[in-house]
Amino acid sequence: MGPNGSGKSTFAQVLAGRDTYQVVADELSFQGRDLRQMPPEIRAREGIFLAFQYPVEIPGVSNLYFLRAAVNAVRAHRGLPELDAVDFMSRARDEAKSLGMDDAMLKRSLNEGFSGGEKKRNEILQMKLLEPRLAILDESDSGLDIDALRIVADGINTMRSVDRAIIVVTHYQRLLNYVVPDRVHVLIGGRIIRSGSKELAMELEEKGYGWLEEQAAAEGSEYKPGAKRKRDSAQPREKPQPSRKVS
Ligand SMILES: Nc1ncnc2c1ncn2[C@@H]1O[C@H](COP(=O)(O)OP(=O)(O)OP(=O)(O)O)[C@@H](O)[C@H]1O
Ligand SMILES: [Mg+2]
Repeated sequence: MGPNGSGKSTFAQVLAGRDTYQVVADELSFQGRDLRQMPPEIRAREGIFLAFQYPVEIPGVSNLYFLRAAVNAVRAHRGLPELDAVDFMSRARDEAKSLGMDDAMLKRSLNEGFSGGEKKRNEILQMKLLEPRLAILDESDSGLDIDALRIVADGINTMRSVDRAIIVVTHYQRLLNYVVPDRVHVLIGGRIIRSGSKELAMELEEKGYGWLEEQAAAEGSEYKPGAKRKRDSAQPREKPQPSRKVS
């Protein structure tokens, strides 16, 4: 959790390997391996998955084709046989159904013309099919109607496992009523300034971020209260410029 512009999506994208960021930290490792040496596609095969805050539309690439190519690339990397079109279709259909998506959405171009909520469900469908080791869900609850929120939360809960870490980025306690977090971390000014149990999220819901921002400033973080709260999280931002340095 954290205010708008505090660096949550930056963190998510750096883990996934977006090349518009330059990592200046000495260490960025996952399961003992140095991520800085791995291009994004290898990170994905190693089991890192990012559900985008703003999923991208790819006209001309069918959702089903894209999903099968991604799943088979991961399976091949894990030494598993590829799934043929028929097997994959039946798995994808079952998972899509559990997320309240109809078959037509599997056949359409990836995210093209999908509503905001449909795009978010489709991201969760990708996660369920890819079975990642680390799933980062960047505001997967934004834009969902009340029923869809519950469906997506159920989808996330079915993926909970001791073999898998899930980072859920959210602004709202209401998702956390369904997906009860083991830990809550608060990012402000690019730093985790407070960690706690699920009660911390409830405290934030009640008090906002002001008290933590003041604490962060008092502790000498680079963060300046109010300095980075201009952008509305519901609006897509402009394309980031290359090579932004993050530590
Ligand atoms: N290419 C860039 N150049 C300069 N600043 C950038 C660039 N990309 C992102 N930023 C800034 O970095 C800060 C962190 O952005 P980020 O998208 O990570 O925030 P966030 O915590 O995900 O916010 P939100 O809750 O609104 O989604 C913002 O102030 C943003 O404007
Ligand atoms: Mg964000």
